[in-house]
Amino acid sequence: MYEIVKSEKLTPDVIKLEIRAPNIARKAKAGQFIMVTPTEHGERIPLTMADFSPENGTVTIAALEVGKTTKELGKMKAGDKVFSLVGPLGLPTHLNQYGNVVSIGGGIGLALMYPVVRAFKQSGNHTINIIGARNEKLLMYEKEINTVSDEFFVCTDDGSKGHHGFVSDILKKLIAENKKIDLVYAVGPIIMMKVIANITKPFNIPTVVSLNPIMVDGTGMCGSCRVIIGGETKFGCVDGPEFDGHKVDFDNLTARNKRYIPEEQISLKRFQEAK
Ligand SMILES: Cc1cc2nc3c(=O)[nH]c(=O)nc-3n(C[C@H](O)[C@H](O)[C@H](O)COP(=O)(O)OP(=O)(O)OC[C@H]3O[C@@H](n4cnc5c(N)ncnc54)[C@H](O)[C@@H]3O)c2cc1C
Ligand code: FES
Repeated sequence: MYEIVKSEKLTPDVIKLEIRAPNIARKAKAGQFIMVTPTEHGERIPLTMADFSPENGTVTIAALEVGKTTKELGKMKAGDKVFSLVGPLGLPTHLNQYGNVVSIGGGIGLALMYPVVRAFKQSGNHTINIIGARNEKLLMYEKEINTVSDEFFVCTDDGSKGHHGFVSDILKKLIAENKKIDLVYAVGPIIMMKVIANITKPFNIPTVVSLNPIMVDGTGMCGSCRVIIGGETKFGCVDGPEFDGHKVDFDNLTARNKRYIPEEQISLKRFQEAK
């Protein structure tokens, strides 16, 4: 059992939990995830670590409440205990002194982006960070990401803050201005990552994306998280979750992530009716 030290709502639908887990916090690296089982008879789901502190012995997760398990997490408060945490899992973000790194995050991807851009900065890169959400109220981690940015852009679909439009507009503008870009990193909705990869491909700008296939064990045994990368089958949990964006079959990932929708709807309905 893992004690929740702090619980906070980042937006009406996003819960942030800081959980005491010293063994995981000591080994965690940017870009890795953990498997979380909120209650004894619950389901295990993958969540990226939005932060980790070896000093405090805690890991932080941020979950968008979309279905039964994330809504279950959304009800948890400081002092409650999470049944099980497994990790850190997945390969950490590959860090290097690339030069100019443009990191792009959207929606819940913003929470996962923060430790990664912090690591890019600590590795000596010039960090250009572009964050976006549907509206100002859904922007997350703005202050934190700004503190590790050399250049920082905010976008909202409705124009309530920053650039009125998509994160991809700013990337297109930087490319049009002949900005030297050595790496693009994108995390967020599948469609956003697909658009970003399509923009950078003709310019041969190396592009890394953080994928979110449906996972069951998170350790390479079940095959649930199969993704197609450059025509080859890879497992998101052990070969990823980060991959070369120019090689990802995004349409296959989109289709596979929809495969349990009827069951997910039944599970959520039963959970809501049982309250
Ligand atoms: C490596 C990895 C890291 C992730 N990190 C985070 C994170 O930090 N924060 C966060 O909020 N979510 C994250 N996700 C997605 C998260 O695991 C799902 O949202 C969660 O499993 C949904 O469970 P549920 O029971 O609440 O909803 P379900 O009832 O299982 O699903 C509800 C809806 O969400 C969609 N969904 C289900 N699983 C996924 C998935 N794996 N990816 C995208 N959509 C999905 C379904 O298609 C459905 O429409 C991550 C996924 C992966 C693979
Ligand atoms: S989640 Fe089972 S193999 Fe990756």
